[in-house]
Amino acid sequence: MSTKLALDGGSPVRTKRWPDWPVFGEEEERLLVEVLRSGQWWSVGGRRVPEFEAGFAAMQDAEHAICVTNGTAAIEIALRALGIGCGDEVIVPPYTFIATASSVLAVGATPVFADIEPTSLNLDPAAAEAAITDRTKAIIPVHIAGCPADMDGILDVAARHGLAVIEDAAQAHAAEWKGRKVGALGDCGTFSFQASKNLNAGEGGAIVTNKEDVADKCWSVHNVGRTRAGKWYEHHVLGGNFRLTEWQAAILLAQMRRVPEQTERRTANARQLTTALGSIPGIRTLPPDARVTRHAYHLYVFRYDPSGFGGRSRNEFIRALGAEGVPAGAGYVPLYKEIVFQRKSDGIGPWCKAGRDVQYRSVRCPVCEEVCEDAVWLFQTTLLADEADMADIATAVEKIRQAWSG
Ligand SMILES: Cc1ncc(COP(=O)(O)O)c(C=O)c1O
Repeated sequence: MSTKLALDGGSPVRTKRWPDWPVFGEEEERLLVEVLRSGQWWSVGGRRVPEFEAGFAAMQDAEHAICVTNGTAAIEIALRALGIGCGDEVIVPPYTFIATASSVLAVGATPVFADIEPTSLNLDPAAAEAAITDRTKAIIPVHIAGCPADMDGILDVAARHGLAVIEDAAQAHAAEWKGRKVGALGDCGTFSFQASKNLNAGEGGAIVTNKEDVADKCWSVHNVGRTRAGKWYEHHVLGGNFRLTEWQAAILLAQMRRVPEQTERRTANARQLTTALGSIPGIRTLPPDARVTRHAYHLYVFRYDPSGFGGRSRNEFIRALGAEGVPAGAGYVPLYKEIVFQRKSDGIGPWCKAGRDVQYRSVRCPVCEEVCEDAVWLFQTTLLADEADMADIATAVEKIRQAWSG
């Protein structure tokens, strides 16, 4: 192997392709053609959406699932169904995709950021509790990267303060907390089936719950305020058209059957990576939590310490890794630093005037800020490769370390 970095003109550790995504075959084709020929492309009166809803609810140990257009809409619908709106506050972590907080704004409520834990990168229950005010109505823990949040801690805080819990499980299909699948551990949970997700239909989303009344309300909100037993032109609550199509359900039915094997493969590869990367100075892998009985590994995240790499920055490291043939990313910035929040005082955006005037420019979540500086993301598609490919990743990291630590 060349010791000269690919970034500096050396030959890369690997030129082999990573697995293609999405993975599909005859079953997806068969189900799609069947929907095409049936002429039943709409979920109303269709059978594929209800069939997928039943299967997905079972997959997530939930009694009910309602399919919706995407994971962002799923959170918004869940909030509406739980009666959260103008003037209310919802506690969210800042280490997540914008949708976790923007959907709170979309219903007129105020997102309040509470810091994350340095080990799981998920909402810290103690920080969430400290952020509660008399306006707080709900907590949205996010199972980031596919790693379940501390649901014991979050549910305990929520129960003591009478708050609703919506799990943002957009990245956590098949993930498990103490033997139970995520999503219906709190009041309800939301999923995304967007193209990058471990279960994907290009776009799509779902809400799961064990509570029949919550399921019925979500169903109404997603179907322009209708009720399941009501007339077509009879609108009981303010909703919207958030219905999925039969096309997406057909793809999802076939894709769902692939999830167990793919999850196993990612888990085995993640284990191997943790062993291999864990012994490299300057790399910190995330410690496992015994209560996480299944990590979905939408992402494999590790932390980078420049002191092990001759002081080179995390972003230089990611570039070097990419040049060696290993795709990696830097991930999120603390969500409150996004322009939409920083420019709140300029009056841009649908800020509910009834809410507490949270000044996002003065929010500080130190753990999140540190993680946003030093995290390195590997993607779920990379984890679908084989053992030798995982060894390549560790080889590339070690090659960069040796080149830079001189
Ligand atoms: C944590 C999280 N929440 C919500 C969403 C929103 O899902 P969608 O893209 O389907 O709207 C995503 C998608 O990236 C996400 O990662």
